[in-house]
Amino acid sequence: MTLKYYVVAACTELAVTNQMYIDLNGEEILLCREDENYFAVSYYCSHEKFTLEGGTIAAGCITCPYHGAEFRLSDGKVTAPPAFEPINTYPVRVEDDTIAIGINE
Ligand code: FES
Repeated sequence: MTLKYYVVAACTELAVTNQMYIDLNGEEILLCREDENYFAVSYYCSHEKFTLEGGTIAAGCITCPYHGAEFRLSDGKVTAPPAFEPINTYPVRVEDDTIAIGINE
């Protein structure tokens, strides 16, 4: 498997909502922004497979809008229950105004 990067968005596209749904070759990803940092994580919570979109982003974590589980954006680790399984994360590259996400192919 090879890690391949795809440009998915311009930084300005996340300026308002801080989140964006990305379907990258079937991988459903939530692209997140906190200040000038960008993260790509699974679109779905590991608790009951509801979406993380709309969750609050703060202190490097995202809080699931459904039951409040919290995940660290950098590595997907659970930082608050009720989830106990981590979520997937993906490498992100920012160059000039473009954001690329890496996936294994
Ligand atoms: S679905 Fe995310 S905490 Fe329950």
